[in-house]
Amino acid sequence: MNLIRLMLLGLLSFQANWVFADVPVAESFGKTNRGEDVELYTLENESGMVVKVMTRGATIVQWWAPDASGTAEDVTLGFDDVAGYESEGNQYFGNVTGRVCNRIALGKFTLDGSDYSLAINNGPNHLHGGVERSLDKVVWKARPFSASDGHGVKFTYTSPDCEEGYPGNLAITLKYFLFKAENRLAVYYSATTDKATPVNLTNHTYFNLGGEGSETVLDHVLQLNANQYTPCDDTLIPTGEIADVAGTDLDFREPTAVGDRIENLTATPSLGYDHNFVLNQPESGQETRMAAVLFEPKSGRRLRIDTTEPGVQFYSGNFLNGQKGKGGKPYAHRSALCLETQHYPDSVHHENFPTTILQPGETFESTTIYSFSTE
Ligand code: GLA
Repeated sequence: MNLIRLMLLGLLSFQANWVFADVPVAESFGKTNRGEDVELYTLENESGMVVKVMTRGATIVQWWAPDASGTAEDVTLGFDDVAGYESEGNQYFGNVTGRVCNRIALGKFTLDGSDYSLAINNGPNHLHGGVERSLDKVVWKARPFSASDGHGVKFTYTSPDCEEGYPGNLAITLKYFLFKAENRLAVYYSATTDKATPVNLTNHTYFNLGGEGSETVLDHVLQLNANQYTPCDDTLIPTGEIADVAGTDLDFREPTAVGDRIENLTATPSLGYDHNFVLNQPESGQETRMAAVLFEPKSGRRLRIDTTEPGVQFYSGNFLNGQKGKGGKPYAHRSALCLETQHYPDSVHHENFPTTILQPGETFESTTIYSFSTE
């Protein structure tokens, strides 16, 4: 009897070790249309969170978070295979976005006396790093790692001089780290260059805290730690002004349902929320500040985002158009939202914005932390 019990205990502890593997486990996710192998890594912890990241675009493919009763659901939009990510339906789902995320007016800038021209892929402007080899479309190298308080994957990619028109060889490192005891994912970015170049990196995850494929995010309650925002022209390029949110439909200083005032914005070029918020300064001695808290009342899921970045683009999924995502589910208009921590859009043309220019010898560093809880 005792022997059987011992054997059972041995089996159970073996399984426990196996379930929480020391380093994230990799599996094949297929091939790109250029024939490159794509791998998918599974990060998991002891509190019910599972995050799957792939080497194409260093993309968050799945993000499972428990609700108030402990049932985990995937809370991010995406696809079941690489072909889905390569299809027109992919509007930057879950990926790293750059070399310069968001817009650069007319796709042109001048740096150290040289003129640079970038792809025009959003009205008259450049969006999210280009068309062919922006950071979301290339395959990154991956190395899984573990630490005493969790585990993660380190992605690296060196974007060669002139790729997508940007100057300098840009060596980028991106680490996803899932904490073992808390449902918290940290994303650490760093980059170095051999020529002055603009850099602005973000993650473009689309959240629906009720589970991906749910109808809408209009019931999500959002709080943004921003007293100000950057007003834009008709093509979503900042005018350069930094304006107060007080008295506008962009005032999220107190928790407010996304749907409460969104209809007031449908006549604007953004067709809803698609604005850069100027985050309030971190408290003294802190490197990160709270950017946003998002709460979904039915599931009780709450997400808090902290960042070293000075801005957050709140985008309410206005261009989602019913494309079929995971399991063939349609992703309807406003069925997910993005909270993209970043420097302000078009910073290369605005001296009053925090600079996005990285010089040789400097290291670009950026951290964003996503903490889930329930109530
Ligand atoms: C960002 C932009 C939006 C849109 C999405 C992708 O959030 O600000 O205007 O381009 O990416 O569809």
